[in-house]
Amino acid sequence: EKAGYASFMLKEIAEQPKAVADTLLGRIDGSGTLSLDEVRIPAAVLREVDKVVVVACGTAFHAGLIAKYAIEHWTRIPCEVELASEFRYRDPILDQRTLVVAISQSGETMDTLMALRHAREQGARVLAICNTNGSTIPRESDAVLYTHAGPEVAVASTKAFLTQLVACYLVALYLGQVRGTKYGDEIRDVVRDLSGISGAVERVLTTMDPVRELARSLAHKNTVLFLGRHVGHPVALEGALKLKELAYMHAEGFAAGELKHGPIALIEDDLPVVVVVPSPRGRSVLHDKIVSNIQEIRARGARTIVIAEEGDEAVVPYADHLVRVPATPTLLQPLVATVPLQVFACELATARGNEVDQPRNLAKSVTVE
Ligand code: M6R
Repeated sequence: EKAGYASFMLKEIAEQPKAVADTLLGRIDGSGTLSLDEVRIPAAVLREVDKVVVVACGTAFHAGLIAKYAIEHWTRIPCEVELASEFRYRDPILDQRTLVVAISQSGETMDTLMALRHAREQGARVLAICNTNGSTIPRESDAVLYTHAGPEVAVASTKAFLTQLVACYLVALYLGQVRGTKYGDEIRDVVRDLSGISGAVERVLTTMDPVRELARSLAHKNTVLFLGRHVGHPVALEGALKLKELAYMHAEGFAAGELKHGPIALIEDDLPVVVVVPSPRGRSVLHDKIVSNIQEIRARGARTIVIAEEGDEAVVPYADHLVRVPATPTLLQPLVATVPLQVFACELATARGNEVDQPRNLAKSVTVE
């Protein structure tokens, strides 16, 4: 069943270009238009939405954090993202004009299910983003956008995450398309860019040998930190989660702008720090800020592992290790930047002798509270 791969996780990492393409299939066309017929919430209702609330757990929550940037940018609707386990015990302010997006690979995560029930009781519409046909979360939602990652067996989520991101972008772009925003042209361009994204993921996968080698050389370390800004921040959180659950290492993700508010005190000689660098095109302020962050941590002894776009020369002098990813629009970068972090965690865990498909203490689907 592993089709020649040493683990399901490796197989599922390799399947990501196809998973991404399958999730886009039939939903975008060459003219830059989206059709999400299965989202059976009438356009008139979607036009009235005045708040989006995303609820999810773990890796799906990280997809939600990225969705916030996309939704707020392309639709100008305020978007909150909350851990389902926190949301359900709060007294959230929701009504019929709130669209709740529940993201879950399994469709059976108890906290996410309880959060969506809580939301529906208050009149909110719930759209599920789910990978498992006929599971409980989509059955209890008003509409569902299925991710087409295929079955994900490894406990650590990889291809499901990338397809959740694709689904989140589709929802954001679709809301923008239905409601009409000043970003209409950009939306059409991004829809076209999405059609090339599976190839970009494929390209990342062909360049992973140095990442594997680096991971093996760090197997004896106790801590790895991850930094990012903007959509790179949730990518950093996801990189850290992968390393915790697979390598059982202390790993933390930070917003790079928070460094000077505390975490920079952690930097010591030869501490590996992975930095996700946004594109130098587009929002160049973000890029310049993170280049100074890399300089700051390196001056304090960090060993910098820099994930940067092809052609970004500004990072070269400060990168002890440089991982290149293809150029994408800023908001889509997580689709390519996450892949090296998955490979890194999987290889490092294997080098430490851990069972990557079945990490200790974890279950694939958390159906208890
Ligand atoms: O099935 P779900 O997407 O609802 O699962 C949510 C989390 O339990 C899941 O993403 C978990 O964090 C993974 N083990 C991460 O790799």
